[in-house]
Amino acid sequence: MADAAIDRLGRPLRDLRISVTDRCNFRCPYCMPAEVFGENYTFLPRAEILTFEEIERLTRLFVSLGVRKVRVTGGEPLLRRELPALIRRLTAIDGVEDLTLTTNGYLLPRMAGELKGAGLHRMTVSLDSLDEDVFERLNGRGYHVSQVLAGIRSAEAAGFAPLKINAVVQRGVNDHTVVDLARHFSGTGHIVRFIEYMDVGNRNGWRLDQVVPAAEIVRRIHEVMPVTAVAPNYPGEVARRYRYLDGSGEIGVIASVTQPFCGDCTRARLSTDGKVYTCLFSGTGVDLRDPLRDGATDDALLATISEIWDDREDRYSELRTAETAEMPSFSKVEMYQIGG
Ligand code: GTP
Ligand code: 5AD
Ligand code: SF4
Ligand code: SF4
Repeated sequence: MADAAIDRLGRPLRDLRISVTDRCNFRCPYCMPAEVFGENYTFLPRAEILTFEEIERLTRLFVSLGVRKVRVTGGEPLLRRELPALIRRLTAIDGVEDLTLTTNGYLLPRMAGELKGAGLHRMTVSLDSLDEDVFERLNGRGYHVSQVLAGIRSAEAAGFAPLKINAVVQRGVNDHTVVDLARHFSGTGHIVRFIEYMDVGNRNGWRLDQVVPAAEIVRRIHEVMPVTAVAPNYPGEVARRYRYLDGSGEIGVIASVTQPFCGDCTRARLSTDGKVYTCLFSGTGVDLRDPLRDGATDDALLATISEIWDDREDRYSELRTAETAEMPSFSKVEMYQIGG
């Protein structure tokens, strides 16, 4: 077992988020705008994508440096062929205490049971609004809310409850539907988490005035369904928790713009093509795929990963200002490449 990795700001390496495909069946305007990602857009060819063997090997190395929590993401991870086989490999790794997945839910009716059978521990489903018109616009493909709700029911039936439901909130787009979403899931055991719209990547045309501060989201819900703040489940939890005073459950807000949480950020991200990113807002990643395919030993790969983490000093969200965020020349990795 190698020594646990600690970065320059004293943060240990604890979480690994693995993007298993850069493809998606949705075209959310804030992530993969349909004008950019049209019929002719070229996604990564198969040869450039890490194989399951490669993902498993790298995950073992990350685990030996301190990772305990692994999240599988995309793009849309359920589009990756044979995904349950990967889940089975990852759950078998000694040291992986929490294996979870973020999906848009559309393919869950087909796959939830198999994912449970493969040993996946938990699941988060993204759903930005229950309003049909708003949702059709937000997924960029005209899909219906009912299709995601069917996915959620399949996940429940497979034994994944309680789920986390992630909703990105944008002013003037879906902020008027926040209370409805909270109400719909109150009493179900599922936890809706409202995410401040972030300036990830360079293609979504983010503006600060489109962000609805978490405090405002909580206030709007509190006016209708009173809530009170509760302590985090673990140090460094990304979401701030609130529970309904009437006992009908809890919600969370992820305030990465107005109340950044870089001080506790223990997350490394592995892109579909095998690059390590030490921040959601990194411009570049460090390639592990070529060394892996050129026959690097585990020790050599471990040394590379340790070095990446030792050198880490990212705290983008704490340094962000309206000017840096809206600066088009600052190149950042796109969300669909590293999966949030
Ligand atoms: P749990 O393990 O269930 O507590 O989930 P989590 O807190 O890791 O949350 P999840 O992975 O679902 O993240 C929710 C959202 O928070 C992501 O989709 C991102 O939008 C945002 N987020 C997560 N991690 C980071 C981060 O390191 N930096 C920033 N700025 N945002 C993040
Ligand atoms: N800001 C905040 N959250 C985002 N997500 C994707 N793009 C953004 C953004 N710009 C969220 C998705 C999903 C998760 C993978 O990341 O809605 O819940
Ligand atoms: Fe797909 Fe998720 Fe990006 Fe939407 S946010 S386009 S569902 S990867
Ligand atoms: Fe971590 Fe970067 Fe997000 Fe800060 S901005 S919490 S360093 S991923």
